[in-house]
Amino acid sequence: MAVVTGASSGIGEATASELASRGASVVLASRAMDKLEALQREISSSGGLALAVETDVSDRGSVEAMVGRAIGEFGSLDILVNNAGLGLSGRIAEVRAEDVRHVFEVNAIGPLNCIQAALPHMGEGGRIINVSSVVGRRAIPKVGAYCASKSALGALSDALRVEVADRGVTVTSVYPGTTRTSFRENSRRTRDEKRGWRPKGVTPDKVAQKIADAAERGPRDVYVTLPDRLFVAGVTLFPGLADRVLRVWAKD
Ligand SMILES: NC(=O)c1ccc[n+]([C@@H]2O[C@H](COP(=O)([O-])OP(=O)(O)OC[C@H]3O[C@@H](n4cnc5c(N)ncnc54)[C@H](OP(=O)(O)O)[C@@H]3O)[C@@H](O)[C@H]2O)c1
Repeated sequence: MAVVTGASSGIGEATASELASRGASVVLASRAMDKLEALQREISSSGGLALAVETDVSDRGSVEAMVGRAIGEFGSLDILVNNAGLGLSGRIAEVRAEDVRHVFEVNAIGPLNCIQAALPHMGEGGRIINVSSVVGRRAIPKVGAYCASKSALGALSDALRVEVADRGVTVTSVYPGTTRTSFRENSRRTRDEKRGWRPKGVTPDKVAQKIADAAERGPRDVYVTLPDRLFVAGVTLFPGLADRVLRVWAKD
């Protein structure tokens, strides 16, 4: 059985459908129950097995209850996809602490809640897949606090990967670049500001296929496109040059 958080929209919705089409029973976990139930019906009508469970990942009690229902229904938990998340735009000098706190509660503490609730039920071959972002590898201006939440998730993933290796549980970090979802509309904003050029982006289905492949094989890191991989390699090898390019990019 696979738990997919943030299954009501975008990458999570596509991932839940992809996993179900590959034969997994899927628990759909997020807050918007109407959307989760619609997806549950869609998966069922295609012959798959899905269970919608209203969940706020930032609320430990809500996550524990979701995992309890999932285990009660399916008996085991093999795959956890920590996908739920939201963006936050704003320069570091201006961003509101309460917005930063909320984004960390969902993007970093949310996965931590899910990992801690799921791990006791995971055996050999278990998969934990954390959806980060290319900007979790190198923060960019105007969305620095969001980047920080994804870097924090990356640190949790790296430590956990080593800690659970002896149990035969794998931990994968997925680093999508721009993906065509409702992410931008759902992001918190500090004030209206031009966002700068962004790539057109890939479809959520493309990211979902990569996540479902990772659920089969358990790799360490997953990039969705070659340009994403080259971006991370470039900013790692030439951090000063990256600063200069990003200064130009971030100009109003
Ligand atoms: N789109 C991109 O360009 C992009 C690029 C790199 C990484 N990502 C990452 O990909 C993941 C999915 O984003 P997306 O693009 O698919 O955006 P999206 O369409 O806005 O979907 C976000 C999902 O997160 C869920 N969510 C938000 N807060 C939640 C909470 N407190 N508890 C449970 N679920 C919550 C939402 O469901 P409810 O509202 O129903 O709770 C929704 O299903 C995020 O982690 C994002 O950071 C996105």
